[in-house]
Amino acid sequence: MCGIVGYIGHRKASDIILSGLEKLEYRGYDSCGICFLDDLSHDFVMYKDKGRVRHLIDDFDYSMSNHLGIGHTRWATHGKPNQINSHPHFSWNQRFALVHNGVIENYKELIAKYLPNADFVSETDTEVIATLIEHFSNTLSVEEAIRKTLSLIEGSYALLILDTQHPEFIYAAKNKSPLLIGVGEKGVTLASDVMALVGNADKYMPIEDKTFTVVEKTEDSYQYRLCDIIGSPVEESFMEMNIVLEEIGKAGYSHYMLKEICEQPSVVRKIISKYMNDDVFSIDPKALSIVQNAKRIYIIAAGTSMHAGYVGKYYFENIAKVPAEVFIASEFAYNMPLLVENCAFVFISQSGETADLRACLVNVKALGYPTLTITNVPTSTLAREADAFLEIFAGPEIAVASTKAYVGQVAILLVVAYVMAKKKPFDLHHELSRVAVAMEAIIDKREYVHSLVGEKLTKRNCFYIGRGLDYYTCLEAALKLKEISYIQTEGFAAGELKHGTIALIEDGVPVIAIISQHAINNNTRANIREVHSRGAEVLVISLNNVSELTDEIVLMDVHESLSPMVTVIPTQLISFYSALDLGKDIDKPRNLAKSVTVE
Ligand code: M6R
Repeated sequence: MCGIVGYIGHRKASDIILSGLEKLEYRGYDSCGICFLDDLSHDFVMYKDKGRVRHLIDDFDYSMSNHLGIGHTRWATHGKPNQINSHPHFSWNQRFALVHNGVIENYKELIAKYLPNADFVSETDTEVIATLIEHFSNTLSVEEAIRKTLSLIEGSYALLILDTQHPEFIYAAKNKSPLLIGVGEKGVTLASDVMALVGNADKYMPIEDKTFTVVEKTEDSYQYRLCDIIGSPVEESFMEMNIVLEEIGKAGYSHYMLKEICEQPSVVRKIISKYMNDDVFSIDPKALSIVQNAKRIYIIAAGTSMHAGYVGKYYFENIAKVPAEVFIASEFAYNMPLLVENCAFVFISQSGETADLRACLVNVKALGYPTLTITNVPTSTLAREADAFLEIFAGPEIAVASTKAYVGQVAILLVVAYVMAKKKPFDLHHELSRVAVAMEAIIDKREYVHSLVGEKLTKRNCFYIGRGLDYYTCLEAALKLKEISYIQTEGFAAGELKHGTIALIEDGVPVIAIISQHAINNNTRANIREVHSRGAEVLVISLNNVSELTDEIVLMDVHESLSPMVTVIPTQLISFYSALDLGKDIDKPRNLAKSVTVE
């Protein structure tokens, strides 16, 4: 969580930092701040407060000329979101200013050992890092003081540091939290995400853990240096910047979430084009060998990606005929089950940065198990650290609520299982193309879905029910609705309701049922009757060939195994329009962040 941006160069630093913070706001939006060197007074100027980057942009004094600075948008971990706890933070004597993304686990021990008399103004762990650097700089050079501090702090961090006594430098370091360096003709930008580099850099590179970076502004140019914690140079591997600004705009939609919902048919088509050559689907041979040689596949993920993992389990077992299990990353990290021999691990993550997954990846790699990451971000930590990775090609997903990445993950899991399968159960190209068309059909009817939301979703709570694959979609649908509308929603296996939860059903409680599979149609219909006779306000989403006349949302038929990619679309629209009608902040729901980089 948290987004950081720093810039040195010939353009106005505050412009680049403020627009970068807006692009990174999905990472955290409790508070934000900026610190830069005023060219005229040679003083460091700091603005920071609780609230959104928009407030900072509105209140900013644009008259000051500046070419070097750092900024931060925060998701609070230590201390409330308020002005004092906002970043940047100064060291005790205000020599160093610093922004931080991550969590320092041993900050209390460090205070006790090195800074027992320091007076901290904030409740953050970050202020301790700044003051430690200052403490060591009394006897060491700045670089040595920073490296000494890095050798002591435990936990995750991406740091950008300014030294008021040497105002021509930005120092950067990272461990576990993401940080990239982007180099353009006019300057160097450092940021948590490639999106803040777009428009400022021609080439970029993710910085490796425990790498220390120094960027210096010289008279008419700038230079950068990457080294390890003891100061030896590290190898550079820059990539060409291939994201364009239009890809990260709203393209005329009111919200990123709606844009991303509407992009899903193109994501499916892109996956077909990326993974099909000469009419045959294939994946990276290294990725294939990892899953193909496994006696059992363990899928590790969180949130929406975990729901994609459940569908993936179905594909591995029913199409590839390999047993698979799904684990919540935050549980698996500290409570590893007994594993079978010759297993493989598949990590699913839109961002590729989720700290819970990273903890699992580190553990299973240490045990020597083969690992594959499925992600939307090929430069991400999980992509780089697994033995192989597969990209979902969903394009940048900005809304905190994940939609197109989910569909992309399900599609890639299907492609992987299909490529593994000795006997191909259907023509994947044909079936995926039908999915894209079925998605378009319901997206085109979104105003109709909106009208149903107004009629049915009028309560504080809601239930989704379904069986088999539909149950997995219910889990995802429930997460999406609660995440952005704050309506308390649960996804239930329809048959499980009568074992307790049906006690919650009373007059007017909305129950949304999903039916896409022939085999369970009658059973789920029976459960619908049970809740209906107890007063529930029922809404049914079904595929055409299992539909009944009274079903409210009837979707175009697709192959049953592929139905989760289609049945999820009306549920995303239901969430979007519920949140819209309730006046919620759809793209940035409260308390959340897009990329969860703390455990
Ligand atoms: O980036 P990841 O896919 O690893 O993120 C996992 C979850 O944090 C994420 O899916 C979350 O549940 C979404 N906000 C749900 O919409």
